[in-house]
Amino acid sequence: MTLEQFEEGLAYARNNFLEDTDTHLWLDKKVINEAFNLDSKEVLDFGCGMGGMSIWYAKNWDCNVHGIDIDSNHITIAKALQKEFSAKNVTFLKKDILDIDSSKVYDIIFLNDVIEHIHPLCLLEKIIHKLTELLKPGGIIYVSYPPWQGPYASHINSVLKLPWCQFLPESFIVNYLKKHNKKKVGSLEDNLLKAYRGLNKMTHEKFMAVIDKTNLCCYYRNSHTILNQIRGLENRNLNIFPFIFLVTKEVLFLKQAEPDAH
Ligand SMILES: C[S@@+](CC[C@H](N)C(=O)[O-])C[C@H]1O[C@@H](n2cnc3c(N)ncnc32)[C@H](O)[C@@H]1O
Repeated sequence: MTLEQFEEGLAYARNNFLEDTDTHLWLDKKVINEAFNLDSKEVLDFGCGMGGMSIWYAKNWDCNVHGIDIDSNHITIAKALQKEFSAKNVTFLKKDILDIDSSKVYDIIFLNDVIEHIHPLCLLEKIIHKLTELLKPGGIIYVSYPPWQGPYASHINSVLKLPWCQFLPESFIVNYLKKHNKKKVGSLEDNLLKAYRGLNKMTHEKFMAVIDKTNLCCYYRNSHTILNQIRGLENRNLNIFPFIFLVTKEVLFLKQAEPDAH
């Protein structure tokens, strides 16, 4: 990673930590603040990236945060952010989640904008199964992601400034990205084309099919659209056709399903 990339990544992570409105994580922060008290909790931030949210959990609650990410550049930046803000109750580890020892378990596991990047789906199934092993009884898994039908799900808005461009012919998008490709800070997905190809085109139905193969159930779903900014519609879940195409983020809470009562 060049010094310039390091500084770009650190500025991005710092913004994700400090900003409550001008960040793609603003809805996560709002929902988490309203729904959870993380005091005394063991928190796993799976796919913590450059650590902005991990530091936010650590600084807002008296909890222990463990940020895990497979990308060495992301973890280098997360550690620099931790140092900058002297966050003592957080550790960062560069590791594939599948290689984590399951003897340590967590009260809450966060996946902010992670599931749509895990390709193919059978790998996501393995990972979700692993997370069930890392969850304490009664624990919660928080998942958020931009669903594939939504306006910005392509993740390439920095170059192709066109909402819903994921529905253009694949060959057009790939050729466009080849011409306008951009370096990314990651050591694994180090450019935009690679990152685009790594998307699994996640939808609620696809993710629920994964969850149905585990002992988890979804007990909360918030499908956020821009229409939620209209007075009176703030808390409306518009996850029905045709509004599903306006959903910018799905937020789900998962827990262990109750065993059948017989
Ligand atoms: C889009 S980033 C999200 C970063 C962060 N959660 C945020 O919201 O800013 C997804 C992250 O998941 C990480 N990741 C993907 N597969 C992983 C795996 N098997 N083990 C650990 N991290 C993984 C990637 O390296 C990447 O940093």
